[in-house]
Amino acid sequence: MNRPKIVVLGTGGTLAGTSPAMHDNIGYTAAQLGIAQLLGAIPSLERVSLESEQVAQIDSKDMDEAVWTALAQRCAHWLAQEEVEGIVITHGTDTLEETAYLLHALLMPAKPVVLTCAMRPATALSPDGPQNIVDAIAVAGWPGARGVVAVCAGVVHGAPDVRKEHTYRLDAFGSGDAGPIGYVEESKLRLLRSWPEALAAAPHPLLSAPASGAPWPQVDIVTSHAGASARTVQSLVAGGTRGLVVAGTGNGTIHHALEAALLEAQAQGVRVMRTTRCPLGEVIGAEGGAFETAHGLSPVKARIALQLELMGRAA
Ligand code: SIN
Repeated sequence: MNRPKIVVLGTGGTLAGTSPAMHDNIGYTAAQLGIAQLLGAIPSLERVSLESEQVAQIDSKDMDEAVWTALAQRCAHWLAQEEVEGIVITHGTDTLEETAYLLHALLMPAKPVVLTCAMRPATALSPDGPQNIVDAIAVAGWPGARGVVAVCAGVVHGAPDVRKEHTYRLDAFGSGDAGPIGYVEESKLRLLRSWPEALAAAPHPLLSAPASGAPWPQVDIVTSHAGASARTVQSLVAGGTRGLVVAGTGNGTIHHALEAALLEAQAQGVRVMRTTRCPLGEVIGAEGGAFETAHGLSPVKARIALQLELMGRAA
């Protein structure tokens, strides 16, 4: 076997962002520096066997299905190489939780796939990206590590639980009721609970050509709120949506006008999935009701689960 290594896949984000002024932590442009340059600027990584690849260079608010497909396929490729101990993905914070969940659902990796990010650009007076990269690489090489996780500000979050919770703080992510998997301290992992569970056994068709080039089904999110109406649902159905995730109030309750439109959509063959807009907790006691529930997934993750399911396999 070749020398064990960790593969770092770059996708952009604030971590790769630059600003004309060092003191400016918000007026920057994301996704400007390449992954090789970012890694080359961290002296301690000279001791680690690394290979890097630029899979995309985007602000993650613009994440799309083409990048997701490419990223999942590159992960599958590298995970299959015996000498690869783990993968690190540098990613924007804004949709990191969605990519993490997608990879979790698609790859079921027995090796670690670690997403990391930054809240400050690379040119900041005190950037957080380099430390996050060092921590993520430590987790990717940690004995026994497995599954898709996110590492930010020294905290390790599981893909099913991770959620961006803060617009500005460096420690921007939380794991909700589940709590973090552990902490990274001076490149050592303090594990608090088990790694994310591996999912189903068969490879998803998305990972193989020609299925990888097929368009993803349109699945949309609607939110229940005071004064909600049927209009959004009706126009989405007219526009060809195949699935609707409803972010309900509280324990997944839905405004009566919106609920009537969702029942009508469901009768027309659109899949409807109930979630909650509450950041913590999950919809309980709704099994057997009018709509299926998302088993604790947030609305954005439920949307991905429904897309994958419509594409050919329950995620
Ligand atoms: C992005 O998500 O790409 C920009 C914002 C960030 O990384 O914090």
